[in-house]
Amino acid sequence: MRNKIVILTGAGISAESGLGTFRDAGGLWSQYDLEEVATPEGFARDPAKVHGFYNARRANAKAAEPNAAHIALARLERDWPGQVVLITQNIDDLHERAGHQRVIHMHGELMEAKCEACDAHWEAPLQMLPADACPECGEHATRPDIVWFGEMPYDMDLIEQHITSADLFASIGTSGQVFPAAGFVMQANAADARTVELNLEPSELSGMFDERHEGLASEVVPAWVNRLLAGS
Ligand code: APR
Repeated sequence: MRNKIVILTGAGISAESGLGTFRDAGGLWSQYDLEEVATPEGFARDPAKVHGFYNARRANAKAAEPNAAHIALARLERDWPGQVVLITQNIDDLHERAGHQRVIHMHGELMEAKCEACDAHWEAPLQMLPADACPECGEHATRPDIVWFGEMPYDMDLIEQHITSADLFASIGTSGQVFPAAGFVMQANAADARTVELNLEPSELSGMFDERHEGLASEVVPAWVNRLLAGS
């Protein structure tokens, strides 16, 4: 049996844990101007505003709990007889807290900080401030270790290797509006992988998938994992 499963998750998988999505009604980009809080230019202009935005999201993420969808994917990673690769666009740590061992955070991590002067990385304090000094070089050049619009996502070469060698590609809880993640299903189709979308509603890319399951991630993801493991 062909058995490498590659999974992409987006904000929709964390929605039922209480963390906001971006483009749903009332989503984060209807509350904040992404140019101001999610671009290097915005950070250069007003670092305190940007730190404030991510400090609030960091506190929300710490107060949130993984939901049945995160837990089901961790079970799939543990019990599937082949390789399971999880790529997430999310910056929360709910996959890890659900017990997922290996997570590729292509947009970085809310719980990590980095130095723009020496590229040191460390666990972010709950509250980051513009005056913080880098623990390695002492420079006041610290920022959240998050990939902003206009910056290159992490691990793109590794991600391409996984997508093009997948037997099954699953996209969960993403609107498919942001590249390069939105292009993964096309790469998977070109590599003859079977493709499945699990989402609350149709996405921009729904027509690209062999199979779709529409509904709440906490319901459709555990059901999907159960079917996979029953047939494995
Ligand atoms: N269960 C399943 N899917 C859900 C749920 C839920 N409970 N709630 C919402 N969704 C779906 C929505 O229908 C939508 O298609 O999740 C998707 C969320 O889409 P976005 O808000 O656009 O989030 P995402 O696709 O992760 O955004 C990608 O854009 O802003 C950047 O870097 C940011 O990583 C983010 C990227």
